[in-house]
Amino acid sequence: MGGRIKVQGGRPLYGRAQVPPAKNSVLPLLAASVLCGSPAALLGPPRLSDVEDCLAILRAAGCQARWQGPNLLAGGPPSRCRLPQAQAGRMRASILFAAPVLARLGRVETWLPGGCRIGSRPVDWHLSALEQMGARVCQVGQRLVLSAPSGLHGACLSLPGPSVGATETALLAGCAARGRTVVENAALEPEILDLAQFLNRCGGCVEGAGTSRIVIEGGRRLHGTAYRPMPDRIFASTLACAVASARGRVTIAGCSPGLYAPVLDVLEQAGCWVLRGAGWASVGRAGPLRGVGLLETGVYPGLATDAAPLVAAALLSARGQTVLVDHVFEARFGCAGGFEAMGAAVSVRGRTLHIHGGRPLHGADVTAGDLRGGAALVVAALGARGSSRIAGREYIARGYGGLEEMLRSLGARIG
Ligand code: UD1
Repeated sequence: MGGRIKVQGGRPLYGRAQVPPAKNSVLPLLAASVLCGSPAALLGPPRLSDVEDCLAILRAAGCQARWQGPNLLAGGPPSRCRLPQAQAGRMRASILFAAPVLARLGRVETWLPGGCRIGSRPVDWHLSALEQMGARVCQVGQRLVLSAPSGLHGACLSLPGPSVGATETALLAGCAARGRTVVENAALEPEILDLAQFLNRCGGCVEGAGTSRIVIEGGRRLHGTAYRPMPDRIFASTLACAVASARGRVTIAGCSPGLYAPVLDVLEQAGCWVLRGAGWASVGRAGPLRGVGLLETGVYPGLATDAAPLVAAALLSARGQTVLVDHVFEARFGCAGGFEAMGAAVSVRGRTLHIHGGRPLHGADVTAGDLRGGAALVVAALGARGSSRIAGREYIARGYGGLEEMLRSLGARIG
C-alpha cells in the first residue's frame, strides 16, 4: 500500500460527503469483542490497514475476525495468548488487546506498540492500571508479558492524565474483572462513550463514560451484538479543512458538527462560512482567509490534537499569523517541512507551529511522516497551485478509507 498520492491543486471542492465510522472507535471495539462469548457485528467500519492489523491480532488470539460484506464479524473467546509482533509493533492501539486477552486467558504476550512518530507515547499508564487490578507485568526489550493466573480484580484507578487509550484499557479490564472498578481522571473523548455503549449493549455495566469518573461493575458475561460505531470526527475535520484549503462548498453528512466544533469554529473565524444542522455541516470558502492568532489543542471538547495539522494546512496561506500549540504530543508538526516545501512560511519550536501566512502555496514533492501530518499535506496540496506528490501513502492509509475517492467525487484531481 506504499507509493505516492498525486494531487493537482487549485480545484475547488463541491458536493456532499458522507463521513465513515471512526477508526479510533472501531479499534477499541475490536479489542472489546475479545471479551464477548459470541462474535459481535460492527456495521460499516472503514477498510484501513489499522483495522486489518487488528483483525490479524484477533485471529492470532484465536478469535473470529472476518468481513461479511460491509460489516465485520469479530470476537468470541480467545484461545491463544501470543499476539503477533508485526501488527502489535506497528500500531499504537494494539496495546488495547492486552487487557481483554489477559482477562480471558490469565496471560498475554505482546509487544510495545508502535504507531505514528508524534511523540514518545509510552504505555505506562495502561500497565499500571492493569497492575493495580492484579496483573504482573514483565518487560524485556520490546516484549511485554502480563499474567494474572487468578484473574483481574476491580480497583480504584486514578489515571495520571486523561489518556484515551489508558481509559479504554481500564474499561476493558474493568468489565472482565471481579467486582467494581472506578476510573478517576478518565478521558472525555466521545470514542470512550462509544466503547462504553458497546460494552453495555454486550451485557456489561459501565456508568459515567463521557465524564471524568467512570464506574464499572465487572464480572458480567458479555455476548456479541450488532453495533454501528460513531462517525469519524477527524475524517469530518479533514474534509472541512480540505474545503477551506481548496475553496468551494461541501456538505459533510453523517457526523454531528458538535463532535468537531472547535475545527468548524476556527474555520469560521478564518473567513469560511459554516452552516450546522442535525448530523451535518456545510463548509464553504470563496475569498481569502485570515490567520486566527493563538490556537491550542486540548482534551475533548477542546481542539483535537489529531486535527491540529489539518487546521494548520488550511491556514497556511491565510493573511496574518496563526500559532498552534499541541499540548498532547510533543512532535505533532513533523509535516511542517512539507508545508515549507510548498512555499508556506512556517517554523516549529518545540510543541508550537508558527504560521506566518500570506504566501500562496505551490505544488511540491513531499513525504508523509505520520497519519494526520500526511493528511495535512494532502489538504495543503489541494489548495496549492500545480501538482504535488505525497510519498508515504501507507501512513495515510492507516486512518483514511476512501479519502481519495471521496475527494475525487467532490472535484479534486487526486490519485
Ligand atoms: C488516542 C487516539 C489518537 C489521539 C489521542 C489523543 C486512538 C487509536 N488514538 O491515542 O488518534 O491523537 O488519543 O486524543 O484512539 N500517555 C502516557 N502514558 C500512557 C498513555 C498516554 O504518558 O500510558 C500520554 C501520551 O504520551 C500523550 C497523552 O498521554 O502525551 C495522551 O495520549 P492518549 O490519550 O493515551 O493517546 P492514545 O490513546 O494513544
